[in-house]
Amino acid sequence: MGASARLLRAAIMGAPGSGKGTVSSRIIKHFELKHLSSGDLLRDNMLRGTEIGVLAKTFIDQGKLIPDDVMTRLVLHELKHLTQCSWLLDGFPRTVPQAEALDRVYQIDTVINLNVPFEVIKQRLTARWIHPASGRVYNIEFNPPKTVGVDDLTGEPLVQREDDKPETVIKRLKAYEAQTEPVLEYYRKKGVLETFSGTETNKIWPHVYAFLQTKVPQTNQKASVHP
Ligand code: AP5
Ligand code: MG
Repeated sequence: MGASARLLRAAIMGAPGSGKGTVSSRIIKHFELKHLSSGDLLRDNMLRGTEIGVLAKTFIDQGKLIPDDVMTRLVLHELKHLTQCSWLLDGFPRTVPQAEALDRVYQIDTVINLNVPFEVIKQRLTARWIHPASGRVYNIEFNPPKTVGVDDLTGEPLVQREDDKPETVIKRLKAYEAQTEPVLEYYRKKGVLETFSGTETNKIWPHVYAFLQTKVPQTNQKASVHP
């Protein structure tokens, strides 16, 4: 068996604000996986004012998805640097054409789906603060920073995401229903979809953790279901 055959190819899915970034950051503390967030990639391009960043901003500000060809090229390009690692995609694929494009290059082993009701999501997003440079995510109720408004690691200021305005959140949730829910069906039919209920705070992680223990090596850090 070649080295690449043992590498895990995973994706995490769920509506905007379902906790993909939060769960991913816990996963990578404990498992040998690289985390690639399409949203973080786009926000990094926006911060740097690249051509893709300028284009992405026009879609993100309206709560719309970036065109499939742009997004697919961007993510597949990043994945070329990660051929020797197990990885976890967050936010990609988000449409059936994206999933098909990914399938043409990689075989996806597992898709973790976080199932959180829209009402819970709306509440979470109004309380979310992020550190733009790293993508670190906080929530004033669920996982607050040690000091209000300040990133724990760098001491830099936290900001709210432009697309977390209530009217944009509603558009993002509609785009999710129309364009991303069919991707869940796509992976269900392939037999790789694992759905976890995220309605109760802190209950997703132990389930995801137990599941991943059977799939991918752990790092040397002390394992805990409450990291
Ligand atoms: P992206 O950044 O991927 O946004 P999203 O999918 O809308 O997801 P979020 O990052 O908003 O939420 P999350 O699920 O990561 O939740 P989080 O962990 O932060 O994409 C942004 C935009 O880019 C898209 O709208 C689109 O325009 C574009 N885009 C990206 N990918 C694309 C693609 N493939 N194709 C086309 N366009 C694309 O958690 C949310 C909050 O809840 C946080 O405050 C967190 O602290 C809190 N929280 C988390 N877990 C819990 C819990 N268990 N209990 C209580 N609070 C919790
Ligand atoms: Mg995220």
